Amino acid sequence: MGRTKAPELWDAAIIGGGKVGTTLGRVLIEQGHRVSCVVSRTTRSARASAEFIGCEAAGTELAAIPGSVNLILIATPHGAVADVVRALARLERDLKGVSVCHASGMLTAAVLDPVKAKGATVFSFHPIQAFPRTFPFGEIVPNLRGIYYGVDGPAAGVRAAYALARALKGYVIEVPPAMREVYHAAAVVASNHLTTLFGVLRELASTFAPEGTDWMSIYFPIIMGSIGNARSATPEVALTGPIARGGVETVARHLDALGRTAPDLVPFYAAVSVETTRLATRSGALAPAQKDELLRLLEPYLSPEAQKRKRP
Ligand SMILES: NC(=O)c1ccc[n+]([C@@H]2O[C@H](COP(=O)([O-])OP(=O)(O)OC[C@H]3O[C@@H](n4cnc5c(N)ncnc54)[C@H](OP(=O)(O)O)[C@@H]3O)[C@@H](O)[C@H]2O)c1
Repeated sequence: MGRTKAPELWDAAIIGGGKVGTTLGRVLIEQGHRVSCVVSRTTRSARASAEFIGCEAAGTELAAIPGSVNLILIATPHGAVADVVRALARLERDLKGVSVCHASGMLTAAVLDPVKAKGATVFSFHPIQAFPRTFPFGEIVPNLRGIYYGVDGPAAGVRAAYALARALKGYVIEVPPAMREVYHAAAVVASNHLTTLFGVLRELASTFAPEGTDWMSIYFPIIMGSIGNARSATPEVALTGPIARGGVETVARHLDALGRTAPDLVPFYAAVSVETTRLATRSGALAPAQKDELLRLLEPYLSPEAQKRKRP
């Protein structure tokens, strides 16, 4: 069986001139590769994207993708990927020697089957990084070196994915297709839930700190310290605080105070505390009786309904 060799020089067409397509296109150029065109839903986004990337061709027609490209990166919203793939497959074009990938976290390489049938080397290629919608492209690009890409596909596709990740100064994590949703949920925890945590902190700080307090500066050192500790050791070893000490009374007082000042946050605090209890149990910090006592305390607070039942 012949092994298709991944190209050393990528010549790409980007489909979808949004945050992901444009910033990855730009990194490709900065790493000495080519982006020959951007195709997007509207001329406006195609032009803005091409201008930032530094390529000349921009438009809305897939048929305008030059025959010379060896990479088609689909970075449309994930709901549009299947339509784009079918439209690509309908083009009168042999896709042998062309790598086609998409950036969706939820979709596997299976959605690319129609272009695989036309000879393309296919793989999913999901960047594990946040690309905030309102951020200028230039603020996202510096965060893209050293990231991982969640990948699946046939062997030749996975080989091409490794080569493309290397070209972008990144790495690959191969994701079994059956685990795609769990993989994506983990990315949501790493990014969206962490961002949510900042919203929670701001809300809590607003209940005791004077208006205008720079709450981020107050918590940034402890946040970065905790991240560093968990990275250099393990989450179990890095865990500090009342749950790791079996402080049932402290947790009970927190729940009571939150119920009075920020009741919407009680189920969140309780749910994360259940996980913290599991972590502390794994680390050996908690005796089984302390664990049971904590879980008995937390359970009634896990949903707003349960909380109402508990509170008179
Ligand atoms: N945002 C993130 O943090 C992130 C992280 C990892 C992966 N992803 C994935 O990356 C993909 C792109 O996300 P994004 O954040 O870059 O989205 P985005 O900023 O909304 O950009 C999507 C782009 O696709 C264009 N588009 C829409 N439908 C199209 C079609 N049928 N044909 C061609 N172009 C089309 C849009 O054009 P118009 O602007 O003209 O409408 C827009 O420029 C998604 O699959 C997403 O799940 C996103």
